Amino acid sequence: MNFFDLVEKRRSVRKFSNENVPGKVIMKALKAALLAANSSNLQPWEFYWIKDKKKKEDLVKACFSQNAAKTAQELIVAVSRIDTWKRNRELILKDYKEKGKLLPIIEKYYNKVIPLSYRHDRFGFLGAMKKIISIFMKIIGLFKPIPRGPLYRHDVFEIVTKTTALACQNFMMALVAQGYDSCPMEGFDHKRVKKILNLNSKSHVVMVLGVGKADPKGIYGERFRIDDDLVIKII
Ligand SMILES: Cc1cc2nc3c(=O)[nH]c(=O)nc-3n(C[C@H](O)[C@H](O)[C@H](O)COP(=O)(O)O)c2cc1C
Repeated sequence: MNFFDLVEKRRSVRKFSNENVPGKVIMKALKAALLAANSSNLQPWEFYWIKDKKKKEDLVKACFSQNAAKTAQELIVAVSRIDTWKRNRELILKDYKEKGKLLPIIEKYYNKVIPLSYRHDRFGFLGAMKKIISIFMKIIGLFKPIPRGPLYRHDVFEIVTKTTALACQNFMMALVAQGYDSCPMEGFDHKRVKKILNLNSKSHVVMVLGVGKADPKGIYGERFRIDDDLVIKII
């Protein structure tokens, strides 16, 4: 199947058959997820593949027992994190060093620019400071483009969540390429999901993904998209 056939074929499946999904299919799709484009290559995602029976039952309940979760053969939780950037930055720099490709501009970017964006605190003090600086910057911004964020913790969450959602799409497409189906879900009690996964406050549950083979009645209706000209703007 070519890429465009795969895009057409991917549908959100709300009822999966009893056929199980080989582990290597899930692993291959997860590895494809990790190849997604991501902000500054900081890879702020985590994917939890829930194998534990009790955790799985709890997760289905936390997803309001919706069919896509209840009938899924496998459940994956995609999580974005605002606290892994330091570790990942070190790994990136180490890799550059080992390959003898660490340019000063790269070092400066990861050691100076990235902390400015990603450093945050729970109470928003740093954000407030950045906001004050940004007021002065805005004057410069009247004359030329300037960086206007991220300022607050929620801005950093937006960055990491955007990136993680791209990885989720890769994951779903990789399943279609292997003949399997999925359903992305945001219909869940995020507090409960975080508790099941033992996640801290620096993580955000982006999506729960149900995986399996579609039941013949698993796709609820024909696909509908609003007209292209409402959303594709050529200016
Ligand atoms: C972020 C996100 C959250 C979603 N949450 C749910 C959900 O909780 N339950 C569900 O049945 N479908 C959910 N969906 C699936 C959408 O309803 C579906 O993608 C949309 O209706 C378009 O249909 P298609 O995926 O078959 O093209 C979600 C999709 C996305 C991208």
